[in-house]
Amino acid sequence: MSGIDLTTRIGSLELRNPLMAASGCFGYGVEYADAVDLTTLGAVVSKGLFLKERSGHPPQRIVETPSGMLNAIGLQGIGVHRYIKEKLPELRRLGATNVINICGSTLDEYVELARILSDAEGVHALEINISCPNIKEGGITFGCSLHGTFDVVSAIKKVTHLPVIPKLTPNVTDVASIAKSAEDAGADAVSLVNTFLAMAIDVETRRPKLSNIVGGLSGPAIRPIAVRMVYECRRAIKIPIIGMGGIANATDVLEFMIAGATAVQVGTANFVDPFIWSKLLDGMRDYLTRHSIARIADLVGTVDTSTREKQWISS
Ligand SMILES: Cc1cc2nc3c(=O)[nH]c(=O)nc-3n(C[C@H](O)[C@H](O)[C@H](O)COP(=O)(O)O)c2cc1C
Repeated sequence: MSGIDLTTRIGSLELRNPLMAASGCFGYGVEYADAVDLTTLGAVVSKGLFLKERSGHPPQRIVETPSGMLNAIGLQGIGVHRYIKEKLPELRRLGATNVINICGSTLDEYVELARILSDAEGVHALEINISCPNIKEGGITFGCSLHGTFDVVSAIKKVTHLPVIPKLTPNVTDVASIAKSAEDAGADAVSLVNTFLAMAIDVETRRPKLSNIVGGLSGPAIRPIAVRMVYECRRAIKIPIIGMGGIANATDVLEFMIAGATAVQVGTANFVDPFIWSKLLDGMRDYLTRHSIARIADLVGTVDTSTREKQWISS
């Protein structure tokens, strides 16, 4: 089938396709430009930015685990001012669609970051990191509470014209209620999931493998939980959902979209295969052709649970 339409809408932002590089797994985008044509991606999500530069946690910051990895980078980053000066001009030249992941220690820091980035040329949306499990201050403190989520999103909405996408943590009992709180505060979309709080211990030394003791689990190990969370959120909110967690091939992308994600992000798989993007696009086009679906948007949220629910009720 020719003429398959992969365009995807997130609030006022139109993406070429639903594939986005996840924050922290694609540098600031420019580092990958020799390997990946950034114009073939739906969007590049930057590494998390605070107002100031941060050195992050000392090593060891990454541990390989079965079907995944554990990280506690500690949001190392160059800060928003250096990002605008050193990275954004190159990203503009490369034609990338740029979603900036912002992190604050306080509500005021989030608001200030949103203000600064709204005035910068070449920024297309803000992803609000209220979900990093690896730092003590800010981040997850907001994302674990309904009020915290509401307050951050509504404060940022007041100072920006850009689409606002809070990134939700899976480290809560009921992620759908947090998504609803974000929607009520005016979020244009939500993205989920960030990493799962986790731990690995070296049994010989009896010491935690990470210097931070605990870290965030990502990769295929978390995918079924992330898919379930996207499904639950789809039933609770109307705004678009950007799904992620362990996507490693086109089937995984399609699974998230059928569960209810309008777009997806790919993180850990970049470390395994930086050339994954064209394979994902080819696999998606092949699927849509086989199923005679002309627009990828028509696939979103089409999971058919009817017979499953009947079985559940009658058992
Ligand atoms: C090394 C590393 C660094 C990350 N840094 C960030 C970050 O700065 N901000 C953020 O919101 N998420 C960050 N994440 C989380 C990812 O963006 C993504 O939500 C998570 O890894 C799940 O997707 P995946 O299984 O495809 O990697 C990071 C993940 C990893 C593995």
